[in-house]
Amino acid sequence: MHAGESFDGAYAPRIAPIYLTAGFLFDSFDHSKARFEGDDGGWTYSRVANPTNAAVEERITALEHGVESLLVGSGQAAITVAMLGILRAGDHFLATRSLYEGTKTLFRENFERFGIEVEFVDDPHDLGEWRRRLRPTTRAIFSESIPNPKNDLIDFELIAGVAREAGVPFVVDSTAATPFLVRPLDHGASIVVHSASKFLTGHGASLAGVVVDGGSFDWAAHPDRYPQFSTPLGAPGSPTRVQKFGRRAYLEYTRSTIASRLGPVLSPLNAFLLQQGLETLSLRVERHSRNALAIARWLERQPEVASVDYSGLPSSPHHALAQRYFPRGQGSVFGFTLSGGQEAARTVIDAVQLFSRMTHMGDVRSMILHPGTTSHAHLSADDRARLGIHDGLIRLSVGIEDEADLIRDLDRAFAELRASEATRESLAARDSVAA
Ligand SMILES: Cc1ncc(COP(=O)(O)O)c(C=O)c1O
Repeated sequence: MHAGESFDGAYAPRIAPIYLTAGFLFDSFDHSKARFEGDDGGWTYSRVANPTNAAVEERITALEHGVESLLVGSGQAAITVAMLGILRAGDHFLATRSLYEGTKTLFRENFERFGIEVEFVDDPHDLGEWRRRLRPTTRAIFSESIPNPKNDLIDFELIAGVAREAGVPFVVDSTAATPFLVRPLDHGASIVVHSASKFLTGHGASLAGVVVDGGSFDWAAHPDRYPQFSTPLGAPGSPTRVQKFGRRAYLEYTRSTIASRLGPVLSPLNAFLLQQGLETLSLRVERHSRNALAIARWLERQPEVASVDYSGLPSSPHHALAQRYFPRGQGSVFGFTLSGGQEAARTVIDAVQLFSRMTHMGDVRSMILHPGTTSHAHLSADDRARLGIHDGLIRLSVGIEDEADLIRDLDRAFAELRASEATRESLAARDSVAA
């Protein structure tokens, strides 16, 4: 709540106000010159930095145990600028296969057009596979802290070890975990990104994204791989980015040379909404996780449910990792599979009244989605099956409503499912008698 606070300004506001301004006044010729030389630490233009955004960036840096953060307009923008701060044409990087579909298509289709090649790892727990897939041109590793809908957790320290061995940064999308549940930088990650549109903002009113630099990766150890950090910034002999900015070199480059040029800026108005959300993050995520565990346990007891993909359940193959890395709660976005397939999923999704039918997550409101016909519809049936996205799979993003109300809503939907299955069976029996 308190990180990033400053009580500057004529009115001594208690919380950082919304500085909704494109740019900032210079007092004089020399003042403007100093600002452009970056010598007086002041503001120039909101595409580069803005005081509202900076206050929120400082708060997120503190939450993630980083050295500096950069806010951008969406989670997709955060992933894009984070990776373009590292990679250039000709580079290759490795990623786990269980990622947000939007990230996978960004890497596979858009990055490919930039000449950057992604390769997906089949088994993120197989050290041998990681090592086999490393190439002389590999420059980064990317993963998610809590993948959804399958909750197939990664072992942060195993992957961080591979990245260390290879001398490449390890980037983690920690959207579904938030720093309340896990801090990837404490487990060896180099950079963290979030879609702040989800839990960090929390109330579903705006999009936002953030890149957090852990400041631990030694860019100067590999000047050939990452020349942006080790070539003189000015005339030959002038300091390099690492010499000038030290542990903040990556974030400084990503802010000044990638984000501010590509331009996916976060409006200070949306930064303010994010600031408000962060103040209740711990309360919300604790409640989200508690509700999700209760619902996962309830679902597991229903005879129509074939499986529940929640790492907080002892039945999950990822439960040991959940206990190791997520002692405060295991998140609230997960899938479960109905044995009745797509028709059963249709009945349940149409019957709920409290869950919102939406493609979004991490909102205070609970949400429900059928990935097979929405987020994963563009994949072939074989690819869906490989990812465990079966026709009966439903994804939930469990909100902070009363646990009993949520279970009552699902219970009503399951009652409709039973009634519809009974009707289908009796119609089938009648048809067979008639035949
Ligand atoms: C894990 C993850 N990362 C990134 C994104 C993209 O975020 P945004 O929608 O804010 O661009 C999403 C969106 O659902 C997501 O679930």
